[in-house]
Parts: sequence; structure tokens; C-alpha cells
Amino acid sequence: MTHPRLARPQWWHDAVVYQIYPRSFADAHGDGLGDIPGITSRVGYLSALGVDAVWLSPFYPSQLADGGYDVDDYRDVDPRLGSLEEFDEMVAALHAAGIGVIVDLVPNHSSNRHAWFRAALAASPGSPERARYLFRDGADGGALPPNDWESLFGGSAWTPAGDGQWYLHLFAPEQPDLNWDNPEVRADFEHTLRFWSDRGVDGFRIDVAHGLVKNLAEPWPPQKEMEDWPRPDGSHPLWDRDELMNVYRSWRRVFDSYDPPRFAVAEAAVHPSRRARYASPETLGQAFNFAMQEADWRPDDFHRVIDAALSDVADTGSSTTWLLGCHDSPRVASRYGLPLIPEPRVFADLKGERPFRHDSQWLARQWLLTDGRAPEVDLPLGRRRARAAVLVEFALPGCTYVYQGDELGLPEVADLPREVLQDPMAGRSTREKGRDGCRVPLPWASDRHALGGNSFGFGSDGAHLPQPDWFGDFAVDVQEADPTSSLAMYRQALELRASLTATPPGEFEWVAGPSGLLHFRRGAWHCLTNFTDEPLPRPEGEVLLCSAPEGAAGGVPANATVWLRSE
Ligand code: GLC
Repeated sequence: MTHPRLARPQWWHDAVVYQIYPRSFADAHGDGLGDIPGITSRVGYLSALGVDAVWLSPFYPSQLADGGYDVDDYRDVDPRLGSLEEFDEMVAALHAAGIGVIVDLVPNHSSNRHAWFRAALAASPGSPERARYLFRDGADGGALPPNDWESLFGGSAWTPAGDGQWYLHLFAPEQPDLNWDNPEVRADFEHTLRFWSDRGVDGFRIDVAHGLVKNLAEPWPPQKEMEDWPRPDGSHPLWDRDELMNVYRSWRRVFDSYDPPRFAVAEAAVHPSRRARYASPETLGQAFNFAMQEADWRPDDFHRVIDAALSDVADTGSSTTWLLGCHDSPRVASRYGLPLIPEPRVFADLKGERPFRHDSQWLARQWLLTDGRAPEVDLPLGRRRARAAVLVEFALPGCTYVYQGDELGLPEVADLPREVLQDPMAGRSTREKGRDGCRVPLPWASDRHALGGNSFGFGSDGAHLPQPDWFGDFAVDVQEADPTSSLAMYRQALELRASLTATPPGEFEWVAGPSGLLHFRRGAWHCLTNFTDEPLPRPEGEVLLCSAPEGAAGGVPANATVWLRSE
């Protein structure tokens, strides 16, 4: 029987979804890699945290050329991570706790070890096997790539097949792009959607949802023109094509053939004016809004991002999404500890070439992704602000995604030695260290040798990325014993949120206040955030929760959020 929480129509509209990066969550097999039974063993933790669903990053068979986003077989579990039976057990355990399951679907590209791609390489140019991917004849008799397009991970977007043809990969060479004009490809992905839906998954996170359908008609625009992105009109040859919606409309028919209907959330890096197409009830239902993740620690930034997201929702009838971090971005606790740039302005990028629009958060990303150039991070301040920011998200209408470890206030591991880096981004340019710093296995115990594993309770045989000594200070067991910890605050906040939203709270409204304070209400539930370094006065009312350990007796503390009940 479906748990009542998940039986509610469109429960995901206002859900709190916890993102699990399976290889780094918990290792039950004892081989240094997190796995499916590891997740099952931590259902109690997820339940105590109070989340409505988990989203699992890929757990499919993969050579891990891109952390599992290079899928060898879409309808199986990587044997190192478990089996289909163990997957079913995990779903059953999560469902019994009222926690929904969202799996990651990677339709833009398979891995180069997928049976289809092996067959394509073995077959000749013009064959049906090659027609599942995007092979083209190379220039100069096959000696050179067909054009100058670049992969998003650096280097050419084309790799030679060895017979004069080249295949397109917008990401790593191990991730050949599929040909979505081919009906066989479309049918196969619908098969995959049914395969997991039949096993009880509640939803899908669609990787690179703005890719898939491409227009490779010649003449090909040069790389310089391809960089004109995002566009408001669907005119880019590779991204956000109008035809893509036919794919998602047919997926919708699959989703709606289940009871309750399955849903999907698009990772669509598109022009904001185009996001609604992905989030429509006729297509995927929801789309990530990454703006909050890039907002600076400034009330105006938050105000602007919130207004824009809420007006998007009014356009689609979907719900918005809030998130501060994911497996692709530097940890929020470190980002907010970086110095603020007084006036957001346009920077040259690290190579001094393209201008960036960007502000401190973007610069922070550059710093944290850059070897040895990180400035001082004020971590206590960053963690304090991260706690304040998540209470803003939890108080807003819509769905919030929390990345594993952010509930612990875990900082970025910014100084992983180059030789342990796994991310394909690392090293493609001389300066990028890549995204591994937010993917280090979680510390469950403060004792490094708990479980005998030299991995802070992650497993019994090490961790696939090295954990620094200070990881123990952030461990789950330490925070469970401390009522002022970040974990304790998350648990309290989610419990309160569930009760405050059990009957729909009043309409969202901004409330005017002193400079530096962001204040909104939903009926009697007020959320006040102080972005300054000094306490600010607050209205009368019952303090429900305060992000700062010292409490809200003297007003709204510096760099903190207070939830208040006041008529
Ligand atoms: C998405 C994933 C990222 C991956 C890329 C290619 O952006 O979030 O981790 O590298 O797609 O699949």
C-alpha cells in the first residue's frame, strides 16, 4: 500500500528531497565505495531527518568516467553497488518510511561501453548501429574532426572512430551523444522509464534535459557562435530545441499510465523564459531552478531570485525548486565563507578570455574549483550563513532539494591532491580541480577507525576519495549529540515545516523591514533573515526556530534566520 505521504496527489510539489550520491553515502559492502545496501542501512537516518524523498545520482553499471553519468546499462545496478534485488529492498524500506525514490536518468549520452556503442564502433559508416549515435565524416579525408565544436569538459567534442568517421560527445569522450531522431532510441528510453516505474520508483531526475534532440544540419556554426547561450528562442543547434517537447510529452503519457503518476524534474540549463516548458504538467512537471545556488549573500539577490522563481510558477502551475548545492557545485558552507565582492561586476574568466557576468558566488565557484588559489574561507561564517539560507528555502512555497552532507554543514574539501581526483573536468584545463571536493564520502562517526574502516564510519574498508582529518568534527554522531548542531537544526526545521504546512499556510507576502533584513510571511508564519553582521530588531511574536545557536532573544542575530509566529 502506498504510504499516505506519497499517496497525496502531487506530493512532490512541496517536498523536501535529499540528494544521495550513492558512491559517497554509506558503504555496506566494505570496499570503499558507497552502495545500495548502504542506503538501506541508513533509512532510519533519513527518516529522522524528515525528508519526503531521496534522489539517487546514477548507480548503474559504469566505468565511472564521469561519476556514473556514463551509463553502460540503463536497466541494471552496478555490481559494485548492489543488485536489482537489493535495489528493490531499498525501495521497500524507503517507502515503508514514507520516503519517495527518484532515480537519475541520463538520456543525452550513454557510455562508450554501452552495448549499442560497442556495436556502433564495430559496424560500418551508414549502418543502423551507427545511426543510434551521432557519427559524422571527419574533415580532411577523415583526419580531422568534422568541426571545431568543443566538449563542455574541454577539448574537441569529437573523437575518431578509426575509419574516417568521428562521434559527437558534448561531455567526455566516454559519453557518446545518442541520436534522438532515431525512433529506436526513443522507444528504448520509454522502456527504461517503465522498467524503473514498475519497480516502484516515484520519479526521475532528467540529466541534461535540455540536450537530447539536436540539429546537425550543415553548415555548422563555428564554436564561437555556439557559445551564444542561453538563448530565449530555441535557435541553438544543440540545446533546448523546440522538438524536445515531443519527447517529454510522450514520457508524460508513460508517467500518467501509473497510479500515482510518476513525475520528473529537469536539469535544464536554459534561458529562464524557457524553463516553464520543461516544468509544464504536459511534459516533465518540474525543473530545477539553480538561481538560489548562485545568489550572493545579499538580501536583494535573494529577493530577486525568489520573486523570479515564484512568478515562473505562476506561469506553469508547477512548483518551484530551491537548492543551495548538488554534486556539481562547491559546498555551500565554504561558498558563503568567501569574501563578498562589494559591487557585482563583469569579470574576465580565469583564462582572461570570455567575460563572465558574475558576482561573488560565481567567483567563489572559480576559486574553489581552482588549484591552490583559494583565498581565506571564513568557515564559521560560511556555515552560519548556510544554516540561515536553508531556513529561507524551507519556509518558501515549493520543493527544496538538499545535497547529502549539507545538513552537516560539511565544507568543501578544496585541497584534494591532484592524483586522487576522479572528475573528468579535473586536469582538462590546467587550472580546474573539478567537482570531487563535494563528493568525499560522508563522515558518520567522529572516530576515524569506526567500523575498522579508516573512513569515519562510512564503511569497513576505506573511502574512495580521501577524507581529511577534520572530517570527524562534522560527523553525524557528534552532531546527533549536540542540540545546537546543524543536523539538529535541520531535523527541527523539517519537523516544524511539516506541521506548518499540514494545512496550507497563507499566501506568500513580502514584509518591509530595516535594511539588511529579508522578511516574508505565509499567514502567521514569518521568516526573517539578517544579512548583516549586527543583530537587527524583530517584530513581536513567538520564536519557532532560529538558525543561530545563540537564539533570537536579542532580535534577529547577525547572519541568521528566525521563524516567528505572529498574526
Ligand atoms: C549533469 C550532471 C553532471 C554530469 C553531466 C554529464 O550536469 O549533474 O554531474 O557531469 O550532467 O552527464
